[in-house]
Amino acid sequence: MSLHHVFDQEFSKPTVFLDRNKIMPHYTPENLLFREKQISDISRIVAVTLRGQRPDNLFLYGKPGTGKTSTTRHVMGGLVKYGQEKDLHIRNAYVNCRTHNKKYKIFLKTLRELFPGQPDKEFQGYSAAYLYEKLVSYVKESKTHLILVLDELDQVKDLDELIYSLTRSNDEIPMGGISVVGISNNLMFKENLDSRTKSSLCQQEMVFPPYNAEQLRNILEQRIQEAFNPDAVNPSAIALAAAIAAQESGDARTAIKLLLRAGELADEAGEKQITDKHVKDARKDVEQEIILEHVSVLPEHEKLVLYTIALLSLRKSGTGMTKLSGESMEDVLYSGEVYEEYERVCKKLNFADVVTARWYREYINQLEMYGLILTTQSGAGVKGQTRFIKLKVDATKIKEVLEKELVG
Ligand SMILES: Nc1ncnc2c1ncn2[C@@H]1O[C@H](COP(=O)(O)OP(=O)(O)OP(=O)(O)O)[C@@H](O)[C@H]1O
Ligand SMILES: [Mg+2]
Repeated sequence: MSLHHVFDQEFSKPTVFLDRNKIMPHYTPENLLFREKQISDISRIVAVTLRGQRPDNLFLYGKPGTGKTSTTRHVMGGLVKYGQEKDLHIRNAYVNCRTHNKKYKIFLKTLRELFPGQPDKEFQGYSAAYLYEKLVSYVKESKTHLILVLDELDQVKDLDELIYSLTRSNDEIPMGGISVVGISNNLMFKENLDSRTKSSLCQQEMVFPPYNAEQLRNILEQRIQEAFNPDAVNPSAIALAAAIAAQESGDARTAIKLLLRAGELADEAGEKQITDKHVKDARKDVEQEIILEHVSVLPEHEKLVLYTIALLSLRKSGTGMTKLSGESMEDVLYSGEVYEEYERVCKKLNFADVVTARWYREYINQLEMYGLILTTQSGAGVKGQTRFIKLKVDATKIKEVLEKELVG
């Protein structure tokens, strides 16, 4: 078969997609549904720049996929555009702290955003202090209001120093200034902050609640119109994808990924319409992918606890331990044994700052909230009152992923 023929076939293959890009998770639609309140609240906070004032720092949090990044980018885009029209010095820089996880890297990325045409050598190789000076003197000399969006802020390693530097910078800037919009999907993050950092960062704060099934269905419908051919998605498949995502987490990203994957499956099977079956089949792939994404951004000691749970589950599976009632106890762990093993794992991998039992319990709650584990209280009798822990995801996979990150 000629190459031309292969390409011809690929080119003319029927597909359910009209514009696949529109159903990719990184695409932000023009119209963000059910976020009117967050949009107008954030807009009002940053709009003080239009009157020459420095906005309060703002901290946004909420579970994954609740629209924090999209909403923030939407508002910032609008503000900068409006500022340009009015000839005001308002700038915005967006930094994802998962990739730029240190003060130095954040300053570097911010300067790159502010001076897009500049060659890298302008900034690279200098100290954090130098980059900081460069940033402050730019803001000061141009009398700019810089709104620095720090997404996935919980990933920053030297956060206290970063927030301190940025807050202090405003003392040196008589006109204009730097404001921070921090974003995190770690619901415990704020509670763990140093009190000075917390009061600077959280001058204003806002929660993004999860979406319910009905809201997710609307979000999906809007996206489907742009991304799929007419009638390519069966309405019942849309409802199913929305219901699954609502039940799991209220996460729009999960819902969108489910439909994307379902579309790919329909195409692979040469079918013209996405049905419930495609969505059900997509579920497994998407869950696995999302879980691994969640795992990779957990704080270090939550990773260590989860890693311990995976190790113990693998060790236990197949022991056939049974409860007196006859119910299988395979793969079920005692909270206490996990904590003890966690301490040993920390020692072995050279993590010095083992967390206290109280924090450990918080971590267990957090891991359960992310759907990575399941816990139940034991009835009376089994070692007194204890909590059982069961890993909900594939132990081998978790072990493999975390080993890479923790052992290096
Ligand atoms: N209200 C909405 N209307 C339409 N699409 C939405 C809405 N909220 C989220 N989405 C879509 O869902 C996906 C995830 O949204 P986004 O990235 O903003 O979530 P997030 O809260 O930043 O999540 P994370 O904490 O994981 O970073 C994106 O593709 C986004 O376009
Ligand atoms: Mg985000």
